[in-house]
Formats: sequence, C-alpha cells, structure tokens
Amino acid sequence: MSDNPQWEIIQGDALKVLSGFAPGTFDAVITDPPYASGGRTQAEKNKSTAKKYSNMGDHAPPPFDGDAKDQRSWTRWAAEWLYDARKICKPGAPVCMFIDWRQLPAATDALQWAGWIWRGTAVWDKGNSRPQKGRFRQQAEYIVWGSNGDMPISRPVPCLPGVFKYGNPQNRIHLTEKPLQLMRDIVKITEPGGRILDPFAGSGTTVLAAVLEGYSATGIEVTDAYAALARGRIRQALEDVQ
Ligand SMILES: C[S@@+](CC[C@H](N)C(=O)[O-])C[C@H]1O[C@@H](n2cnc3c(N)ncnc32)[C@H](O)[C@@H]1O
Repeated sequence: MSDNPQWEIIQGDALKVLSGFAPGTFDAVITDPPYASGGRTQAEKNKSTAKKYSNMGDHAPPPFDGDAKDQRSWTRWAAEWLYDARKICKPGAPVCMFIDWRQLPAATDALQWAGWIWRGTAVWDKGNSRPQKGRFRQQAEYIVWGSNGDMPISRPVPCLPGVFKYGNPQNRIHLTEKPLQLMRDIVKITEPGGRILDPFAGSGTTVLAAVLEGYSATGIEVTDAYAALARGRIRQALEDVQ
C-alpha cells in the first residue's frame, strides 16, 4: 500500500484483491488487462511475454503473468474479474478496458456477462505498426467501454473523443506500457474527483494519469517486479511535478 491516500498499488491477484473492497467504493474501472492474444498457436502463446512483446533480448522489461490463456479461458476469467469489479463500483460508474482486434469479441462478451452495459468501442491509433503487403495495417487497439447500469447524461463530464492518436511510449519500463497522455485523456470519463480502479496496473500508467488529473486511484498488480516499478515511478513523477 502507498503512504499517500490519493493512490495505492496493491501487489496481488486481482481476483482475490477485488473481493476485499466494499460495494460502491469506486467511480470508474479503467484498465489494460493481459490480452493473451500474442501468438497464433498455444505454443506461441505460452512463450514468455518478454519474447512475445519485445525484441530487446536481455534488455527487455520484466516478463508479466496471466498472458497464456486460450480464448475460452480468457473470456471466463475476464467475466469473473469484470463481475467482481462491477460489484465494488457505484451505480452508473464507467468501465474502460483495452483490448486488441483478436480478443475484441471475447472482451465485449465478457463485459456484458459481468453485468455491465456495453456502450461502445473507442480507438487508440498507434500509428506505427508493421506494414503488411495486401493487408490492412493492425495499427489500432481498442477501448471497450460501458457502465454499471444507467449512465445519466447529467454527469459532470464533457464530450470525449472516440479516437486517440498517440505513438507507443519511448523508453518503456513495461512491455505493454500505454502512453501517459492517452491515459490522461481516458480517465476523464470519470466524474471529477472520483476514485479509479485499475486491477491490472502494470507500470502504473493509469494510476499516475488519474492522480495527475485530480482523481484518486487504486492499482492492483500481480507481478512483483511491476508492482515495485509502478510505486517508484508514480512517486518520482509526482515529486517531479511538485
Ligand atoms: C497489459 S499489462 C498493463 C500495462 C499498463 N497499462 C502499463 O501502462 O504499464 C497487464 C498487467 O496485468 C498484470 N496481471 C496479470 N494477471 C494479473 C492478475 N490476475 N491480477 C493482477 N494483475 C495481473 C500483469 O503482470 C501485467 O503487468
């Protein structure tokens, strides 16, 4: 836990940690779970995430857990944590979940099985993916979003864009780190001053973005190395802006 009540990174398995929060604790769930989509065969999926998502060899950021499930298992698992996360959110709370094109149908199924209302899919345009002859570039990832029941128009939240254009971060400390500015844009779907939950915090980008935008935030991260990296990164970044 952090010594700062505005944010915390809890080291543990989201499925176990989520059940420890009281109903109505959070105002939004904004998260980037392991997609378990790297690799076409199960043997490729089972490789270390450092091999699947980096070509930096020994200099790659640490590998992370939870990325080797086949699609049926991933969908069941996602429905479980999405259900637990919804139970600890206020009525009307938004949910935003990153996903790629392979897992998009599974993600929208899981979200709805968990009882969220699926309201749309925003686009993160990364711009720089590998060109493929005779094929469309896979240059986007997606943000499946919805709400915990009704989501009144009267919420004090402005109009938000549906497409976000940001390149992958330079000098990443996480294999699948999201751009900080992208996350600063996304957290704005939360009511001002709300408390945001990221059950798959990685290097803490969502938590840092939330605090920089005036929210409080709880991140959960199962991989020890990343929980420690996230805490150090957030502390340092917040010191730098003071
Ligand atoms: C896609 S990454 C998140 C990256 C993050 N958005 C960032 O910018 O650094 C998913 C993270 O979820 C973590 N994870 C996997 N299974 C988990 C679980 N059951 N509970 C909590 N964290 C988990 C992984 O260790 C990984 O760091």
